[in-house]
Amino acid sequence: MIIIKTGDKNLKNISSFVNDVKENGYFKIEEFVTADEASELEALSLNAFNKAEESQYHIKEEHTAVLSIKEEDTINKSYLNFLNQYFTDSNLIEFVENYFESKNIEIPKIFLAESSSTGQKVDVLPYKMHFDKTRYLKFMIYLRDVGKGDGGTTFAKKEWNTKLQKELLSRDALKEENVVEVYDMNAVEEITGQAGTCTVFDTNITHKAGQVLNKNKRLVLRIDTRSKE
Ligand SMILES: [Fe+2]
Repeated sequence: MIIIKTGDKNLKNISSFVNDVKENGYFKIEEFVTADEASELEALSLNAFNKAEESQYHIKEEHTAVLSIKEEDTINKSYLNFLNQYFTDSNLIEFVENYFESKNIEIPKIFLAESSSTGQKVDVLPYKMHFDKTRYLKFMIYLRDVGKGDGGTTFAKKEWNTKLQKELLSRDALKEENVVEVYDMNAVEEITGQAGTCTVFDTNITHKAGQVLNKNKRLVLRIDTRSKE
């Protein structure tokens, strides 16, 4: 069997954006991977969905398929081998260390998620503006173009985050996901972009998952990172 890899080239060096993520809570990077790399990753991801065993699925429903992948899976399963390089990518690790100002960081999981429209709009978590109690720095890479209605993730803008986040996070009795009512739609931004666009975001800021409303199927590769401190 031939193992196809996207090459051992490092992910793009985005170290100059650490402060943007610190200040804004999120930051959109166009062409994080090239269009060609995105379509190669799309093909490898679809192959992974086909080959994966049931236990590898985090969600397997009619409109949503999510594979949850640990580093060891990318060694043990040949169809996940193409993701191994992200667990050890020096540019990525350096970025995360600088963000958390710690050498004690980890990349616990990578997720591959394909979603299509269910035909109805819902207003429940995670599609409501919220912030998460557990803090992750996530790298979300669109492997297909995401336009309006294609389920781009939405974030509260900097002004909103800096004003409220400290107060919100200091509250007692935080749940894992905490709904925040944002009535001013000018205070939020929905991230759309071409295949290869990456959004880096801190789950402590106010955000919501995007719901696919069009016929396009969204395909996302998400790398979750965190500080172990
Ligand atoms: Fe969330």
